[in-house]
Amino acid sequence: MADLFTPRELWDDAERHSVDELRALQLARLRETLHHVYAHVPHYGAAFDSAGVHPDDLRSLEDLALFPLTSKADLRDNYPFGMFAVPRAEVARVHASSGTTGRPTVVGYTAADLDIWSDVMARSIRAAGGRRGDLLHVAYGYGLFTGGLGAHYGAERLGCTVVPVSGGMTERQVQLIRDFQPRVIMVTPSYFLAIVDEMERQGMDPAASSLEIGIFGAEPWTDEMRGEIETRCAMHAVDIYGLSEVMGPGVAQECVESKDGLHVWEDHFYPEVIDPVSGEALAAGEEGELVFTSLTKQAMPVIRYRTRDLTRLLPGTARPAYRRMEKVTGRTDDMMIVRGVNVFPTQIEEQLLKVDGLTPHYVCVLTRPARMDELTVRVEAHDAGVGADARAQLGRQLAVLVKDNVGVTVDVEVTEPQALERSLGKAKRIEDHRTG
Ligand code: DLL
Repeated sequence: MADLFTPRELWDDAERHSVDELRALQLARLRETLHHVYAHVPHYGAAFDSAGVHPDDLRSLEDLALFPLTSKADLRDNYPFGMFAVPRAEVARVHASSGTTGRPTVVGYTAADLDIWSDVMARSIRAAGGRRGDLLHVAYGYGLFTGGLGAHYGAERLGCTVVPVSGGMTERQVQLIRDFQPRVIMVTPSYFLAIVDEMERQGMDPAASSLEIGIFGAEPWTDEMRGEIETRCAMHAVDIYGLSEVMGPGVAQECVESKDGLHVWEDHFYPEVIDPVSGEALAAGEEGELVFTSLTKQAMPVIRYRTRDLTRLLPGTARPAYRRMEKVTGRTDDMMIVRGVNVFPTQIEEQLLKVDGLTPHYVCVLTRPARMDELTVRVEAHDAGVGADARAQLGRQLAVLVKDNVGVTVDVEVTEPQALERSLGKAKRIEDHRTG
């Protein structure tokens, strides 16, 4: 696996900004955005008025904390187009995220918004090590989900040869990888593992494939998973983050030369981290809920939008002016409370990848047999035909690691290989069978 890095000559002008230049740009753009939504989106007009703030009150970036937070419920209440800040006819495209309950969340883009999205996605792919002329396989789903089309237009903007496969039909994914020889793949990490299993089933050595770079996101994944993929496939695995409400993929991107968290493209998306309970802004470096404010969006800017994703903000490295967000631990909604201890699926993932003989295919099953929640980790054995005793032994090994490192007692059920359902996109890591 060759070392990769992006020479400065290839950076965008914006990536070369000093911190002072970036802050000045952000302040000007933020002012404009606040005026734009105050004038054109009834929800923000009412929310600012009832908080007693006006866009003119913003004198510094810190003043953003005076403005009210926005939640997914606000978007749902204004379903479908009530949060648009331009007439519907000026909206060039909509996307939607499937709500687990009820109405989906709808987002809109003007032609200018789509143009910026392509630019930041191109910047993201380049930061991941992708280059003009690369063959790039997109296995994120195309459609209302932002993954496929977001990756697609960004890769075209960079000048790649794009293979728009979308998710699913895993056998064919492998055939196309074998025949077309892509250098870059964009896909959820969990679905990539399903593709790698299929490669092996077809007798292909994943480490000998043409793939040199995987740009993985849309769901939480750990550094341990990065290690597993990089070793098994002899390729670079880098993280991409985004959400539909803010734009889609490409809000933040990990640089291939440092692999130390994701640089937030702050010239377009202003990040804050808040205490998820009190809503107070937290100091740099503290872990909390990530919040974004649009700086350039026209069709549907968001002001202090609560992502529910937990992370911390760190200073820039490979792109010095741009702060990094640490890999997302999980969403506030994915936090399991097991006998009083908070646990995220990523913490289980970290441990199970330490056990030889287990695969990274797992699901956390929650039950409440009595008054307490119980967590069973269901995980596949690597090899078929491993006896029940050996499987139980692997399970005990994992249970001890989880107890020692995470602090909770879990049951582990080690299944035969291929026993767990594969996701074609975002993996569902929690199965909740609790009642009441
Ligand atoms: O998942 C956009 C995307 C597509 C990002 C492809 C990256 C690659 P939504 O469907 O709106 O948009 O889901 C957004 O997914 O709030 C996080 O909880 C989660 N998520 C996205 N990227 C990451 C990541 C897309 N790299 C929600 N790590 C977000 C952890 C992620 N979680």
